Amino acid sequence: MRGAGERIAALTCYDASFAIIEDRAGVDVILVGDSLGMVMQGRATTTAVTVDHIVYHCQCVAPHLKRAFLVADLPFLSYATPERALASSQRLMQEAGAQMVKLEGNRDQAEIVEYLATRGIPVCAHLGLRPQLIHKMGRFRVQGRDAAAAAEMRRDAKTLQDAGADLMVLECIPSSLGRDITAELDIPVIGIGAGPDTSGQILVLQDILNISPQASAGHTARFVRNFMSGAPDIQTALERYVAAVKAGTYPAPEQCFGG
Ligand code: KIV
Repeated sequence: MRGAGERIAALTCYDASFAIIEDRAGVDVILVGDSLGMVMQGRATTTAVTVDHIVYHCQCVAPHLKRAFLVADLPFLSYATPERALASSQRLMQEAGAQMVKLEGNRDQAEIVEYLATRGIPVCAHLGLRPQLIHKMGRFRVQGRDAAAAAEMRRDAKTLQDAGADLMVLECIPSSLGRDITAELDIPVIGIGAGPDTSGQILVLQDILNISPQASAGHTARFVRNFMSGAPDIQTALERYVAAVKAGTYPAPEQCFGG
């Protein structure tokens, strides 16, 4: 799709009912993300999510997908060593039905990406804001804003691609950095708060329906758009999300970050 110039519409999903609706709506990539810790389990962070949780939710989703590509998150510490990453990925692919695994990491995880990739496991790397590091960072905030951090992220992205990553997620970075990293890589780049110039977009399902615990508490991230607003039903809301990503009308400037 990147080669053909078609924008990729990605969305998270955690159960059968939504898997059917998302697949019908034309979502290209479905992620069983560790965001389930926040939107399904109601926790403040993703760090308590385990491989068992991801396996369970993938098993709910995978049988119902006819066309979407299924990516599963490797949760916190489940890829702390290459051997552990392999064992966790094996479960996600063989038990849970995932077609690719995603891990948060910079160049420090390149060895793990290579270890998985050389064993036939498709890997999506996740750079920028890495929610699994919340307790080291202290709070969620935009990454790569100064020139040194931006240059480092560009180098990390290239290193992860060279290590064998097949897909990249960029979260919460200035639009200019999202554009530059996408231009410098050959693999598709999916943004979440990374501007309009990536190969596609991903959002959390409950965020675009405006039903997450965070939305209920009045905390909505800048990059989120409520697609339920004005839609007669959920199916239409998701179709509108896919259409907006494909047409490049999401994200608009108000959903983007400056440098
Ligand atoms: O866990 C998740 O849902 C994610 C997306 C926000 C990219 O990692």
